[in-house]
Amino acid sequence: MTINEEMDCIIREAVPSDAEGVINLINRTATQTGFMTQGDEGFSLSVAEEAKELDKIYASENNSVIVAVVNGQIIGIASISGSSKPKIRHIGDIGIVIDQPFWGMGLGRMMMTELLEWAESSDVLKRLQLQVQRRNTRARKLYETLGFKLEAILEYGVKDNGEYLDVCQMSKLINL
Ligand SMILES: CC(C)(COP(=O)(O)OP(=O)(O)OC[C@H]1O[C@@H](n2cnc3c(N)ncnc32)[C@H](O)[C@@H]1OP(=O)(O)O)[C@@H](O)C(=O)NCCC(=O)NCCS
Repeated sequence: MTINEEMDCIIREAVPSDAEGVINLINRTATQTGFMTQGDEGFSLSVAEEAKELDKIYASENNSVIVAVVNGQIIGIASISGSSKPKIRHIGDIGIVIDQPFWGMGLGRMMMTELLEWAESSDVLKRLQLQVQRRNTRARKLYETLGFKLEAILEYGVKDNGEYLDVCQMSKLINL
């Protein structure tokens, strides 16, 4: 299945009415792979709380949530989370997840490109950073080709299925 020929996919900023779809996607993808920090503990906010969060994020200068929507269903989320503290508000933490049946169609690259464009148009963000498991070759390739540099390997950075795993700390400087 290619994106243009067989499915109608829209990539756009999330709005409060996306809250339920966002929560469903996070819960659905949490256990599809061992790559997510979230496990089967479930999303911590209610739909109403998440809607308020999305409203705040939409208006924020250093936070953004982008969704990929296919046939009205949210199947991908990419986000930047920044702090309100003046000393670190130039730092944005990146996250991305796509529902597994939609992997390998170029959506990850499209969503990350959109998110980077948003970050580059921000007057605040200077440093984008993320953590990715060393074994997650697909995600690492995506980040590397978008200009993220490996800064450190965090040994014992995460525990999955009883196994302690290496995590890569990566970053990209923007708007310098
Ligand atoms: C990581 C993720 C977002 C990538 O999304 P995707 O839509 O599959 O990505 P794309 O189709 O755009 O492919 C991205 C790149 O990975 C490459 N790739 C695909 N399979 C790969 C593999 N097994 N090993 C290495 N690279 C691979 C592709 O070639 C592509 O590079 P290219 O554009 O230069 O050809 C998606 O796999 C996902 O949601 N994974 C689970 C959650 C996760 O790991 N999130 C990141 C946590 S830090």
